[in-house]
Amino acid sequence: MAATQVGWIGLGSMGIGMSKNLQKHLSSTSAPPLIYTNRTISRGDPLKAIGAVAAESVGEVAKKSDIIFSCVSDDAALRHVADEIVASGNINGKVYVDCSTVHPDTSVAISKQISESGAEFVAAPVFGASAVAEAGKLIFVTAGPSTATSRIVPYLNGVMGRSVIDMGTEVSKSSLLKIAGNVCVISFMEVICEAHVFAEKTGLGPAILEKMLGDMFGPIIESYSKRVTTGAYVPEPGGKAGFDVQLAIKDIKHALNSATAAGTSLEVSEIALKHLQKAKSLVSDRPLDSSSIYGAIRTEADLDFFSDVCKKRDGMGSET
Ligand SMILES: NC(=O)c1ccc[n+]([C@@H]2O[C@H](COP(=O)([O-])OP(=O)(O)OC[C@H]3O[C@@H](n4cnc5c(N)ncnc54)[C@H](OP(=O)(O)O)[C@@H]3O)[C@@H](O)[C@H]2O)c1
Repeated sequence: MAATQVGWIGLGSMGIGMSKNLQKHLSSTSAPPLIYTNRTISRGDPLKAIGAVAAESVGEVAKKSDIIFSCVSDDAALRHVADEIVASGNINGKVYVDCSTVHPDTSVAISKQISESGAEFVAAPVFGASAVAEAGKLIFVTAGPSTATSRIVPYLNGVMGRSVIDMGTEVSKSSLLKIAGNVCVISFMEVICEAHVFAEKTGLGPAILEKMLGDMFGPIIESYSKRVTTGAYVPEPGGKAGFDVQLAIKDIKHALNSATAAGTSLEVSEIALKHLQKAKSLVSDRPLDSSSIYGAIRTEADLDFFSDVCKKRDGMGSET
């Protein structure tokens, strides 16, 4: 029997780390090298450097692979990728696994489209920031036909992830859990950003607040705090956000939409959305991280959007 060929589509902040870990695993097991593509193909250079093979299009990846993974920004990008996979030719017997965060209705529509074309679809969104993807420690939330989820087991735990939450066969369920998780993540960020502005305005200072957050709530919350204190909430000029503000806006809108449809509300998420949108409108000429909520809250407290740490790093002159 021919060895399984694995393909990868999407090399953003998450996809690059995930695909590198997958390629390292394939190489260590003498499996065929990963075939990858990305809209901006040069982002694959680090992947090529460890033995993966570039393809010119999504269609080429789909044609050549038995199992195709993708991790792209949003629902529209996923629909675009799925259309290209279906248009690539006979996809009978292939498995398509998408790791993007999308609305549950989108997962259901893509699953239908892929299965009607003869392949199987697994919705497999992930928990963990880009550094966690790079470290191969993501949490996968999978849903899809068991014949497909069983085929991807060798690539998740211990390769790209540290655990798998199996949501059964209904693909909408994994998207829903991912959205629920993001309600927590973005709400935590909102509260941490408020606490940092409080610490600055009261003279308490950021360092001692960060120590308390780490001691009291552990490394994840401390890492959220560090996005504020290191200035990562505004990536340096030419830099890329770990979790782009636009992606967080998409996630919160999916959460609010799902909450309304279910007859409930998410009031902290509504406040976080307001701050994300404000940050984006205040600084539209460079990428912003989802933690730029902090910049927006600073302006509401008569502070500059850019902290002294950002100004020093970017040579902007210090705050008066
Ligand atoms: N970053 C995080 O902390 C995090 C954590 C968990 C889950 N997620 C989710 O994971 C997904 C990817 O996030 P990310 O941070 O890696 O995003 P990102 O850095 O913005 O990368 C997005 C990827 O999608 C590609 N893309 C965008 N539009 C496309 C289109 N129309 N057709 C084909 N490809 C397209 C981009 O190609 P180019 O390189 O050419 O732009 C890039 O490869 C998102 O759904 C996000 O919500 C992110």
